[in-house]
Amino acid sequence: MSIGDEVGQRKTFAIISHPDAGKTTLTERILLFGNLIRSAGTVKGKKSGKFATSDWMEIEKQRGISVTSSVMNFRYDGYRVNILDTPGHEDFSEDTYRTLTAVDSVVMIIDATKGIEAQTLKLFKVCRMRGIPIFTFINKLDREGREPLELLEEIEEVLDIGTYPMNWPAGMGKRFLGIFDRQNERFIQYNGNEEETYIPYSELDQPEYEDLVSQGSYQAAKDEFSLVEEAGDDFSLDSVLSGEQTPVFFGSALAPFGVDTFFDTFINMAPVPAPRRSTEGLVSPDNQDFSGFVFKIQANMNPAHRDRVAFLRVCSGKFERGMSVTLSRTGKQLKLAQSQQFVASSRDTVEEAYAGDIIGIYDPNMYQIGDTLTEGKGGFEYNELPQFPPEQFKRVSAKNVMKSKQFYKGIEQLVQEGAIQLFHGSRGGSFILGAVGELQYEVFQYRMKNEYNVEVLLETIGDRIPRWMKEEQVDDSLFDERNMLVRDRENNPVVLFKNEFSLNWFRDKHPDIELIDLFEVN
Ligand code: G4P
Repeated sequence: MSIGDEVGQRKTFAIISHPDAGKTTLTERILLFGNLIRSAGTVKGKKSGKFATSDWMEIEKQRGISVTSSVMNFRYDGYRVNILDTPGHEDFSEDTYRTLTAVDSVVMIIDATKGIEAQTLKLFKVCRMRGIPIFTFINKLDREGREPLELLEEIEEVLDIGTYPMNWPAGMGKRFLGIFDRQNERFIQYNGNEEETYIPYSELDQPEYEDLVSQGSYQAAKDEFSLVEEAGDDFSLDSVLSGEQTPVFFGSALAPFGVDTFFDTFINMAPVPAPRRSTEGLVSPDNQDFSGFVFKIQANMNPAHRDRVAFLRVCSGKFERGMSVTLSRTGKQLKLAQSQQFVASSRDTVEEAYAGDIIGIYDPNMYQIGDTLTEGKGGFEYNELPQFPPEQFKRVSAKNVMKSKQFYKGIEQLVQEGAIQLFHGSRGGSFILGAVGELQYEVFQYRMKNEYNVEVLLETIGDRIPRWMKEEQVDDSLFDERNMLVRDRENNPVVLFKNEFSLNWFRDKHPDIELIDLFEVN
């Protein structure tokens, strides 16, 4: 098969949602389609004490949440499916944001009883901003939830995106009868169990369905659906692929109901890998030369292996185990001898991979997040990885000064891995950590202890707004505890403002000082 044919089979996506909206449950269903698991309930069962096979770390088990992103792949219907699992917890948005740079589309799960929840709004907005195609699954129709029209309106308003309902629900909760499947022109009847009955529209007037169609919730939904068909936007695949319209599916991941139809439609409609921007212009996925970028680094992923793995998104050409590549940042030649693909927590050696695939490569402490690897002339870099603003800051030190060697090593590795961001006090000395949320600190503390054998002390500085400055404008007399001057890893001056008010006050008082917001997302 040609490289182009291989690429044409790849569907690489992430499933994102607010915690508890049903991501694990839906992922399980999808893994069943791929025969990756044999029965639902093996990925995670909080109550049964079993945990997601994608939960690698002890802390994830303790909290019952998925902290780090994992990758799963399988073949389905002629496609090669790559699913990137993302942490659902709000605190972990930094890691999740980065994962979004490695996918070609996302499935956004919304709990019908809740709608879009504030904490995950930012995540959805990142997809919007980056033009990533979004497919929406509105979950838990087997429960009494919010009105479908209201949910669509909310998605349109909050995300500034068009919606196209692919199906329309008749009732919900105890009155849930099923969905009108627009694409296949059939009513899918909900029987309160895993079985679905498919009734073509043309047969709905037959006597055997009289019980169904005479019900109040069926009639009400039919009227509403006619209105949606008349007044709603037309479907546009172009708009879907440019991220301006989201196809919306109603269903229940748990029942399961509407999941097969959703997944079949999604997998056919979702985009295959597209050309990606680099410092030398667009790079086509079927370009003969291999290239890819590192979007995640993880140390000590498996206690039995004690190693560091860099997750690479392949962007062009063919990856072959043992091949030589150039690390663009340094120009160094490397041999990629150890490479893995992931099926939840087990790893298989990967011999070849194409654009859209995610591979794990052994990292001899050499890679950084955002690094580009290329074959042949190469030399270019993918500039895909935006940085995200840390919001909470803490001073960190080792409880026992005798452990400073491990302390430095741990900090260096975890920072390089992107687990947390590092700053220094302006006069050197103290280490200051920046994170998006509290949980990142818990994980940091836990991993320092378990992986580097160092207990750390964290002293809260609080929520801050970081702004970069020009070195020549730095004047020590301008700063105090409210507007604290620190240095980033490259020793650039950064002011940590206490709040919007102090930021504006500073701006008014020193209009000549340039304050730079380095982050794309705010
Ligand atoms: P998450 O990964 O997004 O955090 O959500 P997860 O799939 O774990 O689902 C959260 C809860 O919602 C689970 O219940 C799950 O059974 C339930 N759920 C998921 N999909 C549906 C659905 O379509 N309908 C209904 N009624 N419930 C659904 P839990 O009791 O919190 O979890 P567990 O203790 O059973 O694991």
